[in-house]
Amino acid sequence: MRSVLITGCSSGIGHYVAIELRKRGYRVFATARSTSDVTALKNMGLESCQLDLNSSASIQKAVDWVLDQTGGTLYALFNNGAYGQPGAVEDLTRDVLRAQFETNLFGWHELTCKVLPVMRAQGEGRIIQNSSVLGLITLKYRGAYNASKFALEGLTDTLRQELSGSGIEVSLIEPGPIESEFRKNAYAKFLANIDISHSAHRTTYEAVQRRLEKQDINTRDPFTLGPDAVLKPVLHALESRRPKPRYYVTTPTWIFGYLRRLLSSRMLDRVLNKVSDSENR
Ligand SMILES: NC(=O)c1ccc[n+]([C@@H]2O[C@H](COP(=O)([O-])OP(=O)(O)OC[C@H]3O[C@@H](n4cnc5c(N)ncnc54)[C@H](OP(=O)(O)O)[C@@H]3O)[C@@H](O)[C@H]2O)c1
Repeated sequence: MRSVLITGCSSGIGHYVAIELRKRGYRVFATARSTSDVTALKNMGLESCQLDLNSSASIQKAVDWVLDQTGGTLYALFNNGAYGQPGAVEDLTRDVLRAQFETNLFGWHELTCKVLPVMRAQGEGRIIQNSSVLGLITLKYRGAYNASKFALEGLTDTLRQELSGSGIEVSLIEPGPIESEFRKNAYAKFLANIDISHSAHRTTYEAVQRRLEKQDINTRDPFTLGPDAVLKPVLHALESRRPKPRYYVTTPTWIFGYLRRLLSSRMLDRVLNKVSDSENR
């Protein structure tokens, strides 16, 4: 039975993928950062423990527990737990930007480094990074999240090169909009960490707030897919003899992935500003 450690299983993609992999016969270690979520996951029949990506002690404890359960082996790690910190670049404090990187990059890196020796000893393993279309292109007011995912892309490409020939395969998944709690969680971070009233972008922020008050935050745009769209590439990255370095998921990822190769930076800015402006009305 192949074992998979997944972070961020309280909701969204991590939750869905954990359940589906379990159904397909994987031994899934579905982690979450709150005890109540761990209990809920256990009640669903999953093996679960706490893992908070912001805490080195928590990461170490979770890895120790998983290796204890498996007798020291781990086939795959699905790095997934993350959040989006919205807000204009000039409205991000150093601490807020650092916090975004602590969760979305440094935690993933630390956890990965803890399992790599196990995979090296096995002579095989899979590292799957849930990145984003926003690791390929940028949008206004997503600077912190963009930066964390661009950094993840760079770190992951380097890691893949360094692991070449080791038997450990590294893949990035690049989802566009997927149904989950992501938007709701991001909006809470926006309200908690952005000084709206003193911002040069106040008018835009207030317009977005007014719109969000009127509509359900989870209102799907026509391109939004369910988390099953991410399961497919995860399965390929786990099971293929030749996993892809990158998996594009959703039409926006394919379109922007193509445009970023085709257009000059200025032309791409024009297109992406239009997209941002239609979002930030
Ligand atoms: N949904 C999209 O449109 C979309 C698009 C592209 C990429 N992604 C990526 O998909 C991944 C999953 O997001 P999602 O869409 O499923 O959103 P989600 O429903 O908000 O799930 C995010 C998960 O990450 C966890 N998390 C946050 N901070 C954490 C920490 N410090 N330690 C451990 N776990 C933490 C959350 O736990 P709590 O419940 O405790 O906060 C939650 O379980 C993320 O990497 C995201 O960047 C999502």
